[in-house]
Amino acid sequence: MSLLSAERRSAQEVVSPDAWWKSGVIYQIYPRSFQDSDGDGIGDLAGIRQRLGYLAALGVDAVWISPFYPSPMADFGYDVADYCDVDPRFGTLADFDALVAEAKAIGLRVILDLVPNHTSDLHPWFVQSRSSKTNPKRDWYLWRDPAPDGGPPNNWLSNFGGPAWTFDAGSGQYYAHMFLKEQPDLNWRHPDVRAAMYDVMRFWLRRGVDGFRVDVIYHLIKDEGFRDNPINPAFAPGGDPAHRLLPEYTADRPEVQDIVLEMRRVLDEFGTPASARVLIGELYLPVQRLMSYYGMDAAGVLRGAQLPFNFHLIGAEWQAEAIDRLVREYEAALPAGASPNWVIGNHDKSRIASRIGGGAARLAAMLLLTLRGTPTLYYGDELGMTDVPIPIAEVQDPLERRVPGHGLGRDPQRTPMPWSTGAIAAGFTTGRPWLRMGDDANERAVDRQLAEPHSMLQLYRRLLALRRSQPALHEGSWVPLGVQGNVLLYARGDGAQRMVVLLNFGATSASVDMGALSRIPVPLPLQVLLSTGLDRDESVAATITLRPEEGLILGRRASSGVAAFA
Ligand code: NOJ
Repeated sequence: MSLLSAERRSAQEVVSPDAWWKSGVIYQIYPRSFQDSDGDGIGDLAGIRQRLGYLAALGVDAVWISPFYPSPMADFGYDVADYCDVDPRFGTLADFDALVAEAKAIGLRVILDLVPNHTSDLHPWFVQSRSSKTNPKRDWYLWRDPAPDGGPPNNWLSNFGGPAWTFDAGSGQYYAHMFLKEQPDLNWRHPDVRAAMYDVMRFWLRRGVDGFRVDVIYHLIKDEGFRDNPINPAFAPGGDPAHRLLPEYTADRPEVQDIVLEMRRVLDEFGTPASARVLIGELYLPVQRLMSYYGMDAAGVLRGAQLPFNFHLIGAEWQAEAIDRLVREYEAALPAGASPNWVIGNHDKSRIASRIGGGAARLAAMLLLTLRGTPTLYYGDELGMTDVPIPIAEVQDPLERRVPGHGLGRDPQRTPMPWSTGAIAAGFTTGRPWLRMGDDANERAVDRQLAEPHSMLQLYRRLLALRRSQPALHEGSWVPLGVQGNVLLYARGDGAQRMVVLLNFGATSASVDMGALSRIPVPLPLQVLLSTGLDRDESVAATITLRPEEGLILGRRASSGVAAFA
């Protein structure tokens, strides 16, 4: 992307009050693991409510709460048995209402996880559907006759391994499931299914939610002709079995776009101001294919999702040039009026501090919170939590238990949040935590990190505060300044207000020649406004040396405090 087009894009994008999501920060809560309030060892809604003050002080704008609906927990809540209630393990609807009211009172938005691709096999819709071939709900799910040899109707595979089809002996047909067999896929070609799910959205919107993260939105429509998926020529034995086949006929079908538009319309029924309610799509797709989920039309009217989740930092090689390439590619691919979003972790992926190491995780925090667009944080990453190895006898993730050795076990990244040093279960619960906590829970606990001036939590708080106070960081354009050795350089902001970010991805010190920033006018000297070590504030003139894995934000310090430079 040229400097000019970056400048132009920023000039076009005046952040309006109903576009909080363009500059805001989202925080994902996995409710089982955030805070338990009743001693049963499982986090709950009342627990989240107790910790809203922590989230506000951290400096995030919205929380996205993973599913808490009644569920047999075959996939820890991603198998919903009732879309319009709260599982007793997590509380009650009254707890939910109290949570939303209190969140709103302190300026936090609440985003729910909508799981429309599949229900639980114990959802009354499926119970009826499987009861007979002629049941009125039969076509709410995807039923097919066996192949001539009695096997599955086609070669589709489940994302969790094995065929995407399970035979129902009672009614003599197979049903489709992109995930576990306990998660039958709904038939989104059926108008009644759509209407029912849009009513689910209205149910929660009436209760005040600010939007939805839509689980596997790209899977909602499957090929009408149930054609076989093509074989992946690149598949290697031992690789993820789901990747044996390219999911051409089960993912990202063109008709999914109609559903995105319809969901947008439902959100906009509750839009005061228009488009303040967010639609976030869970989309594991290449950058170019993600773009079609951005819903801005030529007139600048929002017609689709604001935030098609961009997971590319999760898989990216942790190296300055690779990250530079990725950000440029993403920025350049964006449709007019669309805004980027960035994610470095979630409940399905190994934690960032385990993927790249603790020092690099501090650098990743600075990257995430200084890129343009909307960052989503995963609970506990702000404490530097790492994956916790779970002994086989204690494995909880049903996926790992169901398909041992599949390598998809997700317990390690879902362990309980440590709050208080020395307390039982580090303050997560007064009982026995549902999943073991890391040996370092006391060291990582929130209270300990708040008392330690250079902790990871302090870094997150300082980054979030700086980002919030500086338009250059929360709404300014992103101006690539290239890579010097292992150091990635970029500026944020336009001609009126700018900051420069230097990120050393290397394991050795690196000197940066500030003359190389001549692509933009830089009035030297600048000051270090924030360093990942939280221990530098010097002036920077001709060159600056970064320590291994160190990141710096440079700007001007005014007498009134920190400032971008003009
Ligand atoms: C994606 C969710 O993030 C994951 O946790 C879940 O297992 C699948 N979708 C199925 O709902």
